[in-house]
Amino acid sequence: MTDSLLEVRDLHVRFNTPRGVVRANNGINLGMNTGESLGIMGESGCGKTVLILSLMRLQQPGVIVGGSIWFDGREVTRLTQKEMQTVRGKGIALIPQNHSTALNPAYTVGEQLGETLGRRQGKTGLWQTLRAGTPGAGTRDYENLRHVLSGLGFNDESVLRRLLASYPHELSGGMGQRVLIAMALLLEPKLVIADEPTTALDRATRAETLELLGRLSADTTLMVVSHEVETLVCICNRVAVMYGGRVVESGVTGRVFSDPHHPYTRILLQSQHLIRGKPVSSAAVALDMVNFPPGCPFHPFCPEAVPACSREEPPETVFDSGSVACHLYNGSGTCSK
Ligand SMILES: Nc1ncnc2c1ncn2[C@@H]1O[C@H](COP(=O)(O)OP(=O)(O)OP(=O)(O)O)[C@@H](O)[C@H]1O
Ligand SMILES: [Mg+2]
Repeated sequence: MTDSLLEVRDLHVRFNTPRGVVRANNGINLGMNTGESLGIMGESGCGKTVLILSLMRLQQPGVIVGGSIWFDGREVTRLTQKEMQTVRGKGIALIPQNHSTALNPAYTVGEQLGETLGRRQGKTGLWQTLRAGTPGAGTRDYENLRHVLSGLGFNDESVLRRLLASYPHELSGGMGQRVLIAMALLLEPKLVIADEPTTALDRATRAETLELLGRLSADTTLMVVSHEVETLVCICNRVAVMYGGRVVESGVTGRVFSDPHHPYTRILLQSQHLIRGKPVSSAAVALDMVNFPPGCPFHPFCPEAVPACSREEPPETVFDSGSVACHLYNGSGTCSK
């Protein structure tokens, strides 16, 4: 399972705002093979959500002003909105950042899951039966639904039926999160993307969700956006670290976390350590995404910067299992003077 599934090349996404142009994605290069689990990490505002929305062409009012996205052999950046409907859901399914607002409060869980199934394979009748509150045990669709939900811990028939009849406000945070994961899985997508799947959860629910996503990553191609090292260590075999709308370092998870090459990765990991895995947004290194400094965007905060860092954007050095974009990187080991 090493086929290339996703290839992002030099992606630029901008927002025109009254304050000026926000350069949310600023030359992103990223690749994923089928079967991989990739973590995207970086401080608040560095462009993670804009990146994953752009993969589904949902970044509006942001505009993709440069670069390309290839997914499953097709150039997503050239597809029409109608063609994009075959990419969204069946190709790429998103578990959104805020689970408490992602479900429709006016419909039961069963209705919403049934509708998802209907979207995958045309109306199946399951939506109507779930809507009427009489899920038809034994039908292929119901068994499919039951299979997915039992993999998410709803394996008792009466618990399952209660869940299907519940409205979103009746769910705990962890249950809501699992329903969103089920929605993504029911579409049998080639790539599942989870945006901050654990950030808003309490400790116990977080551990449960981590365990679940870890199991899922064994047979699903998974991209996980997270601030939290612990989340990425549990789930992802590779990570990409973003700063200023760019991937500044990528590589095998163990290597990036034990031997970070880029000065920003080191600072990010140190600040995580200091605040014990809570979300990081270190004011000392937060970048104004409108007024980019010349050269490397990290140079004003970099304790190791040399004169070249304020003059030229660092090239991206690509090696076997990853990449580093830093003037100080000499091809082996860490970036240093
Ligand atoms: N609709 C929008 N209009 C204007 N600017 C936007 C819009 N959406 C995002 N941005 C800007 O794009 C940049 C990247 O935002 P993005 O949501 O991708 O950050 P993020 O890395 O996901 O942050 P967080 O970790 O807080 O979720 C930010 O500067 C943000 O203010
Ligand atoms: Mg985000």
